[in-house]
Amino acid sequence: MDTIEAILTRRSIRHYAPQPVSKETIETLLKCGMYAPSASNKQPWQFIVIDDRTILAEIMAMHPYSKMLAEAQCAILVCGDEEKALAPGYIPVDCSAATENILLAAHALGLGACWLGIHPREERIAAIKQIIGLPVNLYTFPKIL
Ligand SMILES: Cc1cc2nc3c(=O)[nH]c(=O)nc-3n(C[C@H](O)[C@H](O)[C@H](O)COP(=O)(O)O)c2cc1C
Repeated sequence: MDTIEAILTRRSIRHYAPQPVSKETIETLLKCGMYAPSASNKQPWQFIVIDDRTILAEIMAMHPYSKMLAEAQCAILVCGDEEKALAPGYIPVDCSAATENILLAAHALGLGACWLGIHPREERIAAIKQIIGLPVNLYTFPKIL
């Protein structure tokens, strides 16, 4: 699949097959996220792979549009790192670029994925920080699976 085809055929997928996703595939997705452009090349992101069913259930309980997590093999929490960003305003922009790269890579690899919005909703940011136990410098951004 070439890049144009991947961009034009990617769709949000909310039902998933039960096959496991390999560690190598997850690493490829993360690498594609890390190759996204970022302001001054600060790469102000951190990725957290969540495959613990208890934690995924807690996310589903707090996030009203996350029911697809019940079938997902994992979620990738994309966090902005305030200590690395050029300025705070760049965090959503840079992390969005990384998130879209991951979504396109998942599609190119034949995986279904969907962006789950956390930022800019304060209640979801507070809830995911509490569920995951994020360090204070990590600014929670969107989540995909
Ligand atoms: C910032 C953002 C937040 C989103 N949050 C959710 C979400 O919480 N749950 C969900 O099912 N889809 C979510 N989506 C996916 C959108 O609904 C989807 O991208 C849009 O309807 C277009 O469909 P497509 O991705 O198939 O082109 C989100 C997308 C973005 C960009």
